[in-house]
Amino acid sequence: MKNIDKLSLDNAYRLFDSGAIDAIEIGTTKGLTHIHAYLFDGLYDFAGKLRKVNISKGGFRFATVLYLREILAKIDEMPEENTDQIIEKYVEMNIAHPFMEGNGRTMRIWLDLMLKSRMKLVIDWQHIDKFQYLQAMERSPINDLELKTLLKANLSADVSNRELIFKGIEQSYYYEGYEKSEEE
Ligand SMILES: Nc1ncnc2c1ncn2[C@@H]1O[C@H](COP(=O)(O)OP(=O)(O)OP(=O)(O)O)[C@@H](O)[C@H]1O
Ligand SMILES: [Mg+2]
Repeated sequence: MKNIDKLSLDNAYRLFDSGAIDAIEIGTTKGLTHIHAYLFDGLYDFAGKLRKVNISKGGFRFATVLYLREILAKIDEMPEENTDQIIEKYVEMNIAHPFMEGNGRTMRIWLDLMLKSRMKLVIDWQHIDKFQYLQAMERSPINDLELKTLLKANLSADVSNRELIFKGIEQSYYYEGYEKSEEE
C-alpha cells in the first residue's frame, strides 16, 4: 500500500472512532463528499471536490463531467427503502464516480451508512473476495444482479461490531491495490 493510502486508512479509522461518522448525512452527495474530504484531507488537493475531467476504468467511461451535477441531484432523490434500492443507488453513484480518485473507498462507507440506518445491516466486507467484487462492479452498470447477490450474501446485523467494521475498511483499502488503467 502506498503511504498516501496508509494515511488515508488512518483517517478512515478516525472517522469511526471520533464519532464524526454519526454526523454524516445519509444517502446524499453531500454526505459522500464529507466522507471523501475526511479520508483524503491533506493527501489530495481534490479532497471533497467533484472532478472536472472525464475519467474511465477498464474501458468503462464514468458520467460525463458536463452532466455530473445533474446526475448527482437525481441520485440524491433515489429511494433507499430496502436493500435492493440501496444497492441500486450505490450502482448509480459508482457510475457517476464524482471524484478523481478514492471513489470506491468513499462509496463503500456511504453504502454501509445507508444499510445501517435504513436496514440495521452492514456489509461484512472481509468475506467478499476482491476479484469477485470488482468483477461484479464492472458488470453492475449493465446488470446489477451479480453485485446484489454477492452483497446480500454478506450482510450482517452486527452493526456496532468495531472489529467487523474495521476489518471491512481494511478490505476496502485492499481492493484499491488492484491493476487498473485510468485515462484523461
Ligand atoms: N470497469 C469498471 N466499471 C465500473 N466500476 C468500476 C470499474 N472498475 C472499478 N470500478 C469501481 O470503481 C472503484 C474504483 O474507483 P477509484 O479508483 O476512484 O476508487 P479508489 O477508492 O481509489 O479505489 P478502490 O475502490 O479500488 O479502493 C472500484 O472499487 C469499483 O467499485
Ligand atoms: Mg483508486
